[in-house]
Amino acid sequence: MVQDIYSGSILSKKCDSLAGSATIPGDKSISHRAIMFGALAIGETTIGGLLEGEDVFCTAAAMRAMGAKIENRGKGLWRVNGVGIGGLHEPDQVLDMGNSGTSTRLLMGLVGGHNLSATFTGDASLVKRPMRRVMKPLEMMGAKFLGRSNGRLPLTVQGAKDALAIEYRLPVASAQVKSAIMLSGLNAAGRTTIIEDHLTRDHSENMLRHFGAKVDVEEIGDNSRAISLCGYQELSGREVIVPRDPSSAAFAMVAALINEGSEISLPRIGINKTRIGLYTTLQEMGADIEFINKRVEGGEQVADIHVKAGEVLQGIDVPEDRVPSMIDEFPILAVAAACADGTTKMRGLKELRVKESDRLLMMANGLKACGVSLEMGEDYLIIHGNGKAPVGGARIETALDHRIAMSFLVLGSVSDGEVEIDDGSPIKTSFPNFIELMNGLGCKITGELGVNDNE
Ligand code: S3P
Repeated sequence: MVQDIYSGSILSKKCDSLAGSATIPGDKSISHRAIMFGALAIGETTIGGLLEGEDVFCTAAAMRAMGAKIENRGKGLWRVNGVGIGGLHEPDQVLDMGNSGTSTRLLMGLVGGHNLSATFTGDASLVKRPMRRVMKPLEMMGAKFLGRSNGRLPLTVQGAKDALAIEYRLPVASAQVKSAIMLSGLNAAGRTTIIEDHLTRDHSENMLRHFGAKVDVEEIGDNSRAISLCGYQELSGREVIVPRDPSSAAFAMVAALINEGSEISLPRIGINKTRIGLYTTLQEMGADIEFINKRVEGGEQVADIHVKAGEVLQGIDVPEDRVPSMIDEFPILAVAAACADGTTKMRGLKELRVKESDRLLMMANGLKACGVSLEMGEDYLIIHGNGKAPVGGARIETALDHRIAMSFLVLGSVSDGEVEIDDGSPIKTSFPNFIELMNGLGCKITGELGVNDNE
């Protein structure tokens, strides 16, 4: 039997410097969309560099259950034969979305625009997450829902018989809500328009265009955009190349920046401007991050990233309007801030309370246990760094949250005291080779089963 080094607790010990080049796995957001749009297209889609993580497998299983043919053709290489918009079948069984909020919300949109019903459920983290934010616009389009109180999973969607196009202003900056409405709008009569007042990741817009759909994006005012598409357009099967995930690259990047003498390369990382707020923030803190050979691949900007540890990072105020472009990166930024000299202020973080865990609380608790001085409020985290590594030496509760787990393993790479996380299994949702990759760069991370690729 293959040992699963991710199950159970995981220990991270102080390492020397990090060095080398690492192949970060494919972008999670883009991988979900490649499977979904491929499954909705007419003809064959081939996907290269797909993230082979549990979240994406949940999306693939759901699309198979609704009629698409999805096959693995080798490492990261997948072939999808779509059913065409309007051609989905009703799934026979409950769709188990595991830990994946993106799969759930986007697929609620997809089902909501089709005349079929599907029931979604998920793990102990996902069943706590709010779904009203997608239910509300989808109800306006004609879908009906029966779920638990407060719109939590398990939840059944009865899709609209004839979905209606709507105009909808997003009350929260959320690419998941935007994408759910776009997916429902693909099978609605007329033109659906979504207005967003904060720029959120635009992978759905980019990929729909790549599949041949017409999506209009109009800048309205300083920060707002109106995204429109007409229903009943045909998507055609395409080749999709998935860039490597900038959110996953962030863990190796911060580990290199906080460990003296480190120098690493991370080739072919996605640098879509809606995703790299953390990189800008780290540069403002004094980090040496270089973007080499910037290019466009498969409709997305990518670059080879070179990271070099230098002077100790400096604490800064993170501008609030940058939050959507680094929404998943606050746990790892908090680790960088804990090692920095001076105070780092992070505000406008209400959304972090409803991610895979209450990330504000989990970071604050874990950092305090590692000896970090901080202040936490309803929507802010202020970290007081003293330019030295936190003492560490704690066991961290991760609440089924992959990014909390990986962030504290990075902290353990620099602290004198070992850092242990209680459960490594959620890491496989987004970064299935995290331990091997980080140890390949010089980290000392060991699973409960004692497997350490470094030894
Ligand atoms: C995602 C959007 C973000 C992000 C999530 C992935 C996506 O969520 O946190 O990890 O792929 O659209 P919100 O839309 O809730 O901000």
